[in-house]
Amino acid sequence: MAGKREKIYPESKIELSPFVARHYDFLLDLVTLGGYARFIRKAMADLGIKPEDSILDLGCGTGRNAELMMKYLGPTGKITGLDLLPEMQEQFQKRFKDRARASFQQQRIDVPFDLGEKYDLAFMSFVLHGFPQPTRMIILENARRHLKPGGRLTILDYAEFPLEEKSKLFRWVFRTFECKYALDFIEYDWKAILRQLDFQVEEEKYYFKRSIRLLKSRLPD
Ligand SMILES: C[S@@+](CC[C@H](N)C(=O)[O-])C[C@H]1O[C@@H](n2cnc3c(N)ncnc32)[C@H](O)[C@@H]1O
Repeated sequence: MAGKREKIYPESKIELSPFVARHYDFLLDLVTLGGYARFIRKAMADLGIKPEDSILDLGCGTGRNAELMMKYLGPTGKITGLDLLPEMQEQFQKRFKDRARASFQQQRIDVPFDLGEKYDLAFMSFVLHGFPQPTRMIILENARRHLKPGGRLTILDYAEFPLEEKSKLFRWVFRTFECKYALDFIEYDWKAILRQLDFQVEEEKYYFKRSIRLLKSRLPD
């Protein structure tokens, strides 16, 4: 495959090139000197997965998170991963031989879709910040449509923070390597947005000096 592909959102950086997609986990560990591996293990432990959960992972990537989530699931628990890219499908399916417990669907999450199934937990990790705001609302609606009554939506992504209060280095890294959409993502009041969508905000956990947040919410029963 050629090194470049047409992007749906040219200014987004979460639509990865084939090279980055193929080596995504390795590159993340490399640039964070292994710090990401420790962080993501902790974040997945903090998710509060129940053994019987059915989980929809929107923008699931390589299945690395799904593999960590799987440790907390019992024999009836299962994960469905959705992602745009064939490179992610290949890596996800290599990880999981038992397709009944962890399946992958090549699916755009930024347009309305219906899988014809409802889940206990919809999860998104480092996905939402990479889209324009109207598209983020479509993605949240997609997540809500796929939840059972009382179902949970958990978002792992940047927290809200004033960029000017961060260190010079952080500001430089964020402005240089993140997409422009992330700059406005950190300014929205996500708890208020979730409440407008009928979710009850239940818990937030912060990492990396309150730059990253696990935001847990739930639909009414
Ligand atoms: C930054 S990566 C995060 C992957 C994974 N959630 C993780 O935490 O490791 C963003 C993911 O979103 C996927 N993605 C980007 N645009 C998408 C779209 N429109 N529909 C579905 N997936 C998309 C990318 O292919 C990529 O796997």
